[in-house]
Amino acid sequence: MSGATFFWMGRSIPFQEGESIASALDAAGMVSFGPGVPPSQMRFFCGIGACQCCLVRVDGATREACLTAAAAGLEVEPAGGAHG
Ligand code: FES
Repeated sequence: MSGATFFWMGRSIPFQEGESIASALDAAGMVSFGPGVPPSQMRFFCGIGACQCCLVRVDGATREACLTAAAAGLEVEPAGGAHG
């Protein structure tokens, strides 16, 4: 039971306790995590921190969304493209 949310580009994203940011974004229908190396998009892929496809900016710091636990009130946004 959780009513907690974080923010993805200003949009509230709900998550379950212990869920990763990548999993919560994926569950919310966010297929793209922002621009990657053109023409690809950043996205949830390996889920284990190996591919670096899910890099996002979390409260200003670049992180793997699949390894970063969602927490209430976090400000998450695209990492900036081309792996930052
Ligand atoms: S999905 Fe591969 S590093 Fe996160």
